[in-house]
Amino acid sequence: MIKTIKDFDLKGKKVIIRCDLNVPMISGEITDDNRIRKSLPTIRYALNEEAKVILLSHLGRLVTNADKQKYTLKPVAERLSKLLNTKVTFIDQTRGERVENKIRNMEPGEIVLLENTRFEDLDKRKESDNDVKLGKYWAKLGDIFINDAFGTAHRSHASNVGIAEHLPSGVGLLMEKELKYLNKANTRPKKPYAVILGGSKVSDKIEVINNLARKADYILIGGAMANTFLKAAGFSVGKSKIEEDKISYCRDMLDKYPDKLILPIDLVTGTTISDEAETHVRFINEVGTDEMGLDIGPGTIKVFKQYLDKCKTIVWNGPVGCFEVKKFAEGTRKLLEIITSTKAETILGGGDTASAAINMGFKDKITHISTGGGASLEMLEGKELPALKIIDEK
Ligand code: 3PG
Repeated sequence: MIKTIKDFDLKGKKVIIRCDLNVPMISGEITDDNRIRKSLPTIRYALNEEAKVILLSHLGRLVTNADKQKYTLKPVAERLSKLLNTKVTFIDQTRGERVENKIRNMEPGEIVLLENTRFEDLDKRKESDNDVKLGKYWAKLGDIFINDAFGTAHRSHASNVGIAEHLPSGVGLLMEKELKYLNKANTRPKKPYAVILGGSKVSDKIEVINNLARKADYILIGGAMANTFLKAAGFSVGKSKIEEDKISYCRDMLDKYPDKLILPIDLVTGTTISDEAETHVRFINEVGTDEMGLDIGPGTIKVFKQYLDKCKTIVWNGPVGCFEVKKFAEGTRKLLEIITSTKAETILGGGDTASAAINMGFKDKITHISTGGGASLEMLEGKELPALKIIDEK
């Protein structure tokens, strides 16, 4: 078992907490602060324990100096301060004298957020390539390292793996919660266990399908990736986007798991992905040559419901339709309604699935909505996450 923040005496210590504050922004405005809110319990815990809290996070992916303005963490510091109802000192640097002086003079219960760790990527990708000197430098700023950035745990970067190599380390409360639910689904799910997989590409989900086909009782397939499976099963899918090079994989999986992989029986089709599109409900053998399958149909929803109603664990990654467009959001909304009216433990992963659940008003009815996209997928693939491998054992 790895250590958690509760295994340390934090009083008066300089505690570096790596959060994933990588939130969506438009023109400097945060459009969804879920990840900031989910980071609060660990930060509050450390503040209550009278730690000197030093926060690190990345935001976006920087390529040129011009990206600095877009990806500064300043608006995140402001939001954090509002949510915590306390002063958050933002230092617009990732290292240097100002950073060191401020930290040296911190009082217990004070909180500092350094600038976006990926600003270091403008200098030979030091953060993302886990530059040893950078990890060591950041580690020197603190006494204890707490990794609470589940969304980044599949990356081996200086601000997560690099620091942990040089300091006593543990995970935060969010990370602990994420691991509890995703590990349980992977190793000892209550049965029957169903997985709903959607999103655009089969290629993104191959390892998940390979891993979960051995563990889950049913894999319900929706989203654009269902079209590749339907094509593999011999149906004509019109102009739907498919991955030609994954058809034989899909065919093999359908042969191997005929009772486990459940495909749609009907689709909502359209010729464009917009609310102006003329839509039709088509059985899967009736899709027109100029049409695309853009959502699961009402017949499929009924079939999926029969499976989901009897399940005790439901994991969902990837919306089952183009849910950003109202006309193709019904399948995703109905499935959210169905899974939240079962008694099953429900676990959602992936940015799109999470934002669909939150925006459609199901946030409080889901057992656990993961803050990780890639990280939750890698856990469902059965992989060990590099940022966790390095954390101290109890
Ligand atoms: C995410 O949004 O999935 C995490 O913050 C990781 O971001 P990245 O894919 O840019 O590494």
